[in-house]
Amino acid sequence: MDSVTFRIFRFDPETEDSPRYQDYEYELEPGVTLLNSLNTIRSKQDATIAYRMSCGSAICGSCAMRANGHAVLACKTQTSELVKDGVIQIDPLGNMKVIHDLVVDLEPFWGSLRKVKPYLQPDTTNNPELEREQTQEQFLLIDDVTTCILCGACFSDCNALEVDENFLGPATLAKAHRFIYDSRDSKTEERLEDISELHGVWDCTHCAECSTRCPTETKPLARIEEIREAAMKAGVHGNNGARHVLGFRETVGKSGRLNENYLPPRSVGFFNIPGLLGLLPVGIRMLMRGKNPPLIHHSIDKVDEVKKIFSRFEEYRK
Ligand code: SF4
Ligand code: SF4
Ligand code: FES
Repeated sequence: MDSVTFRIFRFDPETEDSPRYQDYEYELEPGVTLLNSLNTIRSKQDATIAYRMSCGSAICGSCAMRANGHAVLACKTQTSELVKDGVIQIDPLGNMKVIHDLVVDLEPFWGSLRKVKPYLQPDTTNNPELEREQTQEQFLLIDDVTTCILCGACFSDCNALEVDENFLGPATLAKAHRFIYDSRDSKTEERLEDISELHGVWDCTHCAECSTRCPTETKPLARIEEIREAAMKAGVHGNNGARHVLGFRETVGKSGRLNENYLPPRSVGFFNIPGLLGLLPVGIRMLMRGKNPPLIHHSIDKVDEVKKIFSRFEEYRK
């Protein structure tokens, strides 16, 4: 058996001014999970360590925490995989306030979920008693996302949430996907409109951390891409994100390279005066630091090849 140091985040905001780490020496046995190890430390060394757990089998979602800086589900993670130079550092989930040790206040996570009306809204006008069946193909569209156990690991490690606490976050966007793609729901367009607003589906920065951290098949980033696809197909284009995509396609499809002078005003809208004024400070800073793109935009040498790709893609789409 190897000895491992568990460096555990401790903090009781009611009695302490600042957090600290406490070390526990632990004899590692093969095959134990992080949750098994914490339970052993708590029962044999220190009964005051606070953390959440319930099912012990990756179903309830309550034991998410950070190990060596990344969110994991403690009951699904082998302790042996976490040891680094004889140490494992355990912290509470990020992007939420600590209540006690590894227990965080999950209200921002639940509050975000509530914003997307996470329940089925079928059309019940003609026959409220009707059984709403789905084909296997229809169910497969939402199969992956129904595996979400609402553990909050993705919310904890989302980079966009670190800079914008109002961003809906990966789990909420995945939950929205589950109803946007559900053949029995009747509010697809409203859902797409709502989710395309500021702090919504276009504010994800594609860092992929949510999908890397997710312990299920939900993989939020893939779901976010599918929502964007659905929004573009449904013609929900009146927002910065969709205009950005369209502008990107227009300039690359025409000249073979991105026209960085065209893209910002195209994204905020050419007649959106406050939006355009909001771009000015960045533009001036770029100019002062010599980072501004050339005023005259040139096509690349083999632009006809690029145009061919775009026209083939259009044919394929049709
Ligand atoms: S890919 Fe998007 S939603 Fe996922 S963690 Fe990164 S910024 Fe957040
Ligand atoms: S999407 Fe994955 S990481 Fe996020 S809450 Fe659901 S199961 Fe947890
Ligand atoms: S204890 Fe239920 S998911 Fe880990």
